[in-house]
Amino acid sequence: MSSRFARRSFVKSAAAAAAATTLPSWFIAEMAPAEAATLAANDKPGIALIGCGGRGRGVAREAALHGDLVAYCDVDDSHLAQAKELWPEATALKDFRKLLERKDVDVVVNGTPDHWHTLVNIAALKAGKMSIAKNR
Ligand SMILES: NC(=O)c1ccc[n+]([C@@H]2O[C@H](COP(=O)([O-])OP(=O)(O)OC[C@H]3O[C@@H](n4cnc5c(N)ncnc54)[C@H](O)[C@@H]3O)[C@@H](O)[C@H]2O)c1
Repeated sequence: MSSRFARRSFVKSAAAAAAATTLPSWFIAEMAPAEAATLAANDKPGIALIGCGGRGRGVAREAALHGDLVAYCDVDDSHLAQAKELWPEATALKDFRKLLERKDVDVVVNGTPDHWHTLVNIAALKAGKMSIAKNR
């Protein structure tokens, strides 16, 4: 499976992400990775969850219908344990920066509290990931 989106796909996806995150779409487009890569029609994106509370787990379960949940991250051991029950094969991490280094992660579901959203989203975009922070 290709681990990265083509720039065109990324920018298209970024419009939806912008609506969800309140970041301006031009900002997200500027952050898109310059290199072109391919994601074949039958490839499944690698999905990761940062912030494994109830909302994050819920949104990630929906996202995982469209890809493979490969990793999750939280600073709280009890929420990591709850995520492990859902995704026993995925990798558990405590530092979201380590998660963003992974080549098999294409899409990040950002389930952290509000005051972490911006930092995590920008870090995800800089790492070439699509980031979704769903608040509603
Ligand atoms: N709970 C709901 O019904 C609901 C509904 C709509 C929107 N939301 C929004 O969803 C978001 C998450 O809500 P929740 O109820 O799941 O909150 P929560 O506090 O239960 O979960 C947030 C998780 O993020 C983790 N976290 C915090 N900082 C982190 C970091 N730097 N790295 C990794 N993990 C980190 C916390 O340890 C916690 O497990 C919030 O923005 C909230 O406003 C929640």
